[in-house]
Amino acid sequence: MSKISAAITAVGAYVPEFILSNAMLETMVDTNDAWITSRTGIKERRILKEDGKGTSFLAIRAAKDLIQKTNLDPKTIDLVIVATATPDMKAASTASYTATKIGASNAFAFDMDSACSGFLFGMSSASSFIESGRYKKILLIGADKMSSIVNYKDRATCIIFGDGAGAVLFEPNAEGLGLQDEYLRTDGSGREFLQATYGGSSNAMTHEVLDNGGHYAFQEGKTVFKNAVFNMADATAKILDRNQLTNSDVQWLAAHQANKRIINATAERMGLEAEKVMMNIEKYGNTTSATLPLLLNDYETQLKKGDTVIFAAFGGGFSWGSIYFKWAYTKTIN
Ligand code: UT7
Repeated sequence: MSKISAAITAVGAYVPEFILSNAMLETMVDTNDAWITSRTGIKERRILKEDGKGTSFLAIRAAKDLIQKTNLDPKTIDLVIVATATPDMKAASTASYTATKIGASNAFAFDMDSACSGFLFGMSSASSFIESGRYKKILLIGADKMSSIVNYKDRATCIIFGDGAGAVLFEPNAEGLGLQDEYLRTDGSGREFLQATYGGSSNAMTHEVLDNGGHYAFQEGKTVFKNAVFNMADATAKILDRNQLTNSDVQWLAAHQANKRIINATAERMGLEAEKVMMNIEKYGNTTSATLPLLLNDYETQLKKGDTVIFAAFGGGFSWGSIYFKWAYTKTIN
């Protein structure tokens, strides 16, 4: 009996309408378009403005986009995983709410948080459930409302992050397409360099903390940058090496969109031409768990059945890794 592999068979996405441009940020903090563009590659990001709408709003829209594009019956979905670092609430999962709102009434659902590596690690989890034969349709959503934890007075973080969501459907594949291999790692000693410190179980949210902006995310950009460059390049090199792949075997690099310079360094280490590097950071900034599915959504019509896609991510935790994937369908343009 041939082994079941786990393939992505559909993609959907949603970004909020409000555009926060570099020009607008120039009026909010001491920064400028030239600095942001040259240091990060970002031109604008999307922000979910409406009060009372959280990450589930983005996740539901992305899932509905996928459902509507593919005529998927949501009742056939077995499991909904929402990768997010900004859940709606602390103790009620964003995934359960999302699953119910999209009509996935025969599914169970849970959240996964591994910061910017959340979607990558979610790909591994979703694939394992499919490969084991236990479930047949898994909706993996990467969604983050980063604007809920960004301090718009801190120029080191507010220029980078944006809000958005992307969704993919994982299904069994009999042709050996889908996830081929993965190299995933974490290093908890890195958490001091990128974190939202307060409001969890270690450090309570007090009036004083709140007054001092302690509920916002903090990052020591330079340290995170260095670790991201090294580890994303290292993980992709390891994946290529152990699968005896060279740059000419790879059609696409789908790398977490945190900084154009980090993505280019990874592509350079792989010896990949710019045309093979998926890039949309200029439009959305760093949407944390949503960057990878937003890339797939933007490039869906260019992807061909059998294409080799190398995924890579690095994020808080620290967490990072790379996945070797074979794309399972060619989308016909109507
Ligand atoms: O997605 C999860 C992981 N996150 C990442 O991968 C992000 C990794 N880090 C980065 O992308 C970069 O470190 C940043 C974009 C955050 C910062 O870029 P950098 O090139 O590392 O800048 P820096 O922090 O070393 O600062 C260089 C200079 C400093 O000025 P001095 O000390 O040289 O005079 C900063 O004060 O740039 C200054 N600076 C800014 N200037 C204008 C820092 N932020 C800004 C800004 N506008 N927004």
